[in-house]
Amino acid sequence: MDILIDLFYGDVGKGRLIDYLASDYDMVCRFNGSNNAGHVVYNQGVKYILHIIPSGILQEKVCVIGNGCVVNPLSIISELEQFKDIGFNPLNYIYVSDKAHLITPADISADEMKDKIQKIGTTKSGNGIVYARKASREGFRILDIFKDDFKERYLAYSDSISKLYYTEILNDEFFNAIEWMKTKVKITATEYMVNNYIKNGKKVICEGAQGTLLDIDFGTYPYVTSSSTLAASACIGLGVSPKVVDRIFGVTKCYVTRVGNGEFDTELFGELSDKIIELGGEYGSTTGRKRRVGWLDMKLLQYSIMLNGVTDLCITKLDIFSQLEEFYVKDLNGDMVRFDSWGNVDISNWDNAPIEFRKFIEYISNTLEIKVSHISIGRDRNELIKL
Ligand code: IMP
Ligand code: MG
Repeated sequence: MDILIDLFYGDVGKGRLIDYLASDYDMVCRFNGSNNAGHVVYNQGVKYILHIIPSGILQEKVCVIGNGCVVNPLSIISELEQFKDIGFNPLNYIYVSDKAHLITPADISADEMKDKIQKIGTTKSGNGIVYARKASREGFRILDIFKDDFKERYLAYSDSISKLYYTEILNDEFFNAIEWMKTKVKITATEYMVNNYIKNGKKVICEGAQGTLLDIDFGTYPYVTSSSTLAASACIGLGVSPKVVDRIFGVTKCYVTRVGNGEFDTELFGELSDKIIELGGEYGSTTGRKRRVGWLDMKLLQYSIMLNGVTDLCITKLDIFSQLEEFYVKDLNGDMVRFDSWGNVDISNWDNAPIEFRKFIEYISNTLEIKVSHISIGRDRNELIKL
């Protein structure tokens, strides 16, 4: 089993990498997070945004939403809308763990109200509320929707949140979605499926959500998400042994972005930041918020590589640097190192690529003593250099 992880604050281009890599795998699994994630994939020029459905769906791979995830049925329904004309039924490929926890409208309300005071800048998807309820043993699991008292128990919870925050919670659409889940979605003990795939020699890849520096333990607490985002949590979030893990792909952009609040040492402001936001399309795919941008920080990258045990480093968005004259990296000593851009020339062939381009990639690889396996130079599936 291989794992793909974001080494910064999310939005490094995991979705497009999984979509590219998926052709070599039989199963793509999500093990953490919820529809707070936004994975953008371009397929034949069409843009798809996936939030809880694994990015392997476009390649018609078996897709598992594991026990470590928290699931909003309404998000699955709205994501599926995009696939109306795709020529296959995505629901034939999607399996949801019966042990994953359920995101309800009451959780979303609570997230919205709580963040007004706490100001983490959450995605308001209910994610953190549901993980907190899971840990305090109050949560609803997906398997609970099949129980007779589910509606009654949920309404009592919804009522309590409504009273606590003086807010109205609309549940009709949610109850319809629950009925749809019960009849149309494959809900099962996915741990058996994943382990059987591995036992039978099939290839499984796990798709992390959010980023290493948003991890609940190692991220910039309290400005973090509420799940573990590290490679190690793929095992717990799917119910497999760490013994089966093979390659660990770590993904970084050649610059850094962050949505939401929290520290950001190399952050840029003003004209240059606006330019990178425009060139890179750096707007949150879940919330539409403008992302904060800054230069690559090698110390943080080194830390994330260590925490995840990255075997293969993937660097994305190199095409954005083609359009700048120069750019910077914060080195391991904390000094800013200047690089000349290679300019707007063809960089798709590594052997003939301009020296400036190779120099930058080799700098990262040599400084961190890590193999760079993939470089992304555009958003389409084939705009990827495999080294
Ligand atoms: P939450 O996960 O919605 O509770 O938000 C907590 C923090 O994580 C906020 O700073 C969010 O902006 C950030 N966050 C959550 N999911 C993502 C993501 O997929 N990409 C980038 N940032 C995210
Ligand atoms: Mg994203």
